[in-house]
Amino acid sequence: MQTSAIITGITGQDGSYLAEYLLERDIQVYGGIRKTSSSPSDLARIQHLLHDPNLFLEHLDLLDPLSIAKFVSFVDNKTHMYRKQGFNPIQVYNLAAQSHVGDSFRIPTVTHQINAVAVLIFLDRLHAHFGENDGFRFYQASTSELYGNLKGTGEVVEMDEDTPFNPASPYAVAKAAAFQTVKNYRETYNIHAVNGILFNHESPRRGIDFVTRKITRGVADYALGKIDTPIELGNVNAKRDWGDAREYIEAMYVMLNEAEGETIQDYVVASGTTHSVRKFVTAAFKVIGIQVKWKGKGLDEVAVDIKTNNTLVKINKDFHRPLDVQALLGNPKKIKENLRWQPKTTFEELVEDMVNSDIALLQKNGREWHYEKKCKTNRIAHVHS
Ligand code: NAP
Ligand code: GDD
Repeated sequence: MQTSAIITGITGQDGSYLAEYLLERDIQVYGGIRKTSSSPSDLARIQHLLHDPNLFLEHLDLLDPLSIAKFVSFVDNKTHMYRKQGFNPIQVYNLAAQSHVGDSFRIPTVTHQINAVAVLIFLDRLHAHFGENDGFRFYQASTSELYGNLKGTGEVVEMDEDTPFNPASPYAVAKAAAFQTVKNYRETYNIHAVNGILFNHESPRRGIDFVTRKITRGVADYALGKIDTPIELGNVNAKRDWGDAREYIEAMYVMLNEAEGETIQDYVVASGTTHSVRKFVTAAFKVIGIQVKWKGKGLDEVAVDIKTNNTLVKINKDFHRPLDVQALLGNPKKIKENLRWQPKTTFEELVEDMVNSDIALLQKNGREWHYEKKCKTNRIAHVHS
């Protein structure tokens, strides 16, 4: 029986890995791409998949309710024939978002519209088209940002599904609204709709304005002598629970495919370890054989190369946020027990992979992502326009 999936945010880090994962399993993938000035979207992360006959791309802008309605109708029409003959529920992965927490302070209304309001409209349309008889399952890209800063002693505390939410940015406020919307649909209409409360996950395909990739690209530039000015960062005290995006998309899959009955719940997905941004910097330079020493305090803090005394990192207050989440540490016990998912990649392995990948990319003189497979054609397969 044919299985189909919708991925919003297919051009992003997670969407691109998830598309690969589903296509490898012969699942038909309907991806939403939005109109931009580089029309349609930047397809770099999925370029190598465009020849796949099971991949269908269609315009979708979550800021436009009519676009959402048209996108759902498109998938309905495309899948109508085989749905009449008996079908597996359509798996919907809602990954699209304005995903940058810092930017959400600058564009709060747009962030709320995409990350909260659109989720309600999307669910409403899906329910109208596929709501009968377990016609669709829904995964919502929820986030550890929901926890914000826990009140207490200042100690880093493990967060799980029972930890109260205290969102600390327009991004997190919107994601909290979406979280409750998804839960409400599950409880009201008995839909297999779940929130994955994912802690930070990174990869060579991470956007360059997130701190890990900004650091690994900076380290690669330094290693190859391309740029010798320091990397400029904001809050280097912040701690994050960093995992590998390629494993976290598998957690999304098991939430829609392995959960049943009582185990259709919201799940924390995390590595169970936490490290500061400062530690990430130190680990990244270690990959290229440089030992880092941190000196100074506050805005005057710098990281220098112990051997040469070159300044590698300095602090720029422009990268500080009006309010930052100081520390995140997740406990993935429930997903391990119920759905047998667990993280494998260590912090050091992840940092090494990202640095080496950025070095390889720069050596090829590219500034963008590189892929395992080459695209056979340059056409945009199946784009309906
Ligand atoms: P990402 O790389 O920033 O990708 C975001 C995707 O959303 C892109 O495909 C983007 O399309 C799309 N998008 C943005 N605005 C849109 C709009 N108005 N209409 C349609 N599509 C739109 O994010 P990611 O790291 O893969 O994260 C995926 C999801 O997980 C996000 O919802 C994020 O908030 C959530 N999350 C991420 C993490 C993490 O650590 N990565 C942790 C917890 C939760 P364009 O390519 O056209 O910009
Ligand atoms: N982006 C960025 N740039 N962050 C910096 C910088 C900098 O120059 N300097 C320090 N930081 C700090 C941020 O203040 C934050 O405390 C931490 O590094 C991580 O920032 P990001 O990499 O931007 O990620 P995030 O934790 O804010 O958000 C990511 O993870 C969330 C899950 O916890 C995003 O992927 C969100 O979409 C996701 O929900």
